[in-house]
Amino acid sequence: MAVRGQEIGLAVIGCGPIGRIRAELARDYPGVGWLGVCDIHEDLATELARDAHADFSTTDAAELLARPEVNAVIIATQESAHVGPVMQALEYGHRLFIEKPLAVDVRDSEKVAKAIERAGVDAVMGYTQRFRRRFLTVKERLVQGQIGDVTAVCARAMLNRTIAEMCLSRANQHDTTTPVVISGTHILDMCLWLMEGRSPVSVYAHSTDHIFGSAGSKDSTFAIIEMDDGSMLSLNHSWAAPHVWPGAVYGMQVGIIGDRGVIDIEDMHRDLVLASEIPQGAGYKKDNVEAFPRHVDFLTSIPFGENAVGQFWGPVREETNSWFQRLYMGQETPHTTTREGHLNLLLCMAIDLSAKRGDKLVLPLETDDFYR
Ligand SMILES: NC(=O)c1ccc[n+]([C@@H]2O[C@H](COP(=O)([O-])OP(=O)(O)OC[C@H]3O[C@@H](n4cnc5c(N)ncnc54)[C@H](O)[C@@H]3O)[C@@H](O)[C@H]2O)c1
Repeated sequence: MAVRGQEIGLAVIGCGPIGRIRAELARDYPGVGWLGVCDIHEDLATELARDAHADFSTTDAAELLARPEVNAVIIATQESAHVGPVMQALEYGHRLFIEKPLAVDVRDSEKVAKAIERAGVDAVMGYTQRFRRRFLTVKERLVQGQIGDVTAVCARAMLNRTIAEMCLSRANQHDTTTPVVISGTHILDMCLWLMEGRSPVSVYAHSTDHIFGSAGSKDSTFAIIEMDDGSMLSLNHSWAAPHVWPGAVYGMQVGIIGDRGVIDIEDMHRDLVLASEIPQGAGYKKDNVEAFPRHVDFLTSIPFGENAVGQFWGPVREETNSWFQRLYMGQETPHTTTREGHLNLLLCMAIDLSAKRGDKLVLPLETDDFYR
């Protein structure tokens, strides 16, 4: 029988939808002995503390992190607000689970990745798609060499426009709130994980900005990435599909070409369709975004999961519980490390830079190259 670790004393910083889901899962995990929640909006913290039966609630992250019960932290603040709480948590040596991306700026991401390495803490990131059975089984087949050596991967992801509107409405830096940095990072992480062992050596990309250009962002970005073993990744990503697109959030297609076989992943969620005269919600509705009435919905296209019969089901449940097992049972888990998360951010930024300059870029870039 595995030896149990120390009881988890968990701090959840950021009580939006994602922090809420993870805190409620913590409430149901027997190894979590203490739970504290924090949001700068007091009402969100108080409501979540009530619903997740938390032991402590505050609007001040420093106060929560300094509590003697805390030994692990989930950073579930919005994309541009991860750095501050991560650096604060590191002062106490707490183990970390950080939502993606690590930061929205290359220097910040580097600062955080280095600080985590220096502190020697176990820190992982929220790349939830890795926890879906279909991708785990593909990963295992590749590790077993069942299609030989991978020579090319062709990946496409498409999102309903609602997510872009929501992310841009809460961002303070729109030129780095791009489709690739915010949502393309999920499919990029998936492809790099499936192609593990290879490093990117060049990128050429192109973007369009017909819809979100006026907001300082992009609509769609297509990139060709060359790897150090001569294999290549084609990554096509768009977060500008019209509101009527029936995929509530994320749909992917990934073709993996090996020298002895092929794996073709169809993940657009077209296999579970609801059509109704009654308008459906946006899928990931937030108060700051008006829900566009959709009459057709690809069910299960919300990438993190959803509530059904009184509980939350889906990949975020698998991912969060797996992290608790990592902490409490000392199990190895397939989470994205913060080093991988940092490399994901660098490649996302390099894709955007290539699209901006219209040039093929040789990788890796120096940090200063991103600011020239
Ligand atoms: N894993 C997934 O599938 C998935 C899905 C959606 C979003 N995300 C990621 O999860 C994160 C959170 O997303 P969300 O939609 O819940 O965001 P949100 O903006 O709704 O919630 C974030 C909360 O953090 C709070 N906050 C900000 N700074 C704070 C601070 N210093 N101290 C305390 N509270 C603070 C805000 O007040 C807000 O309530 C983002 O990084 C997002 O990209 C992951």
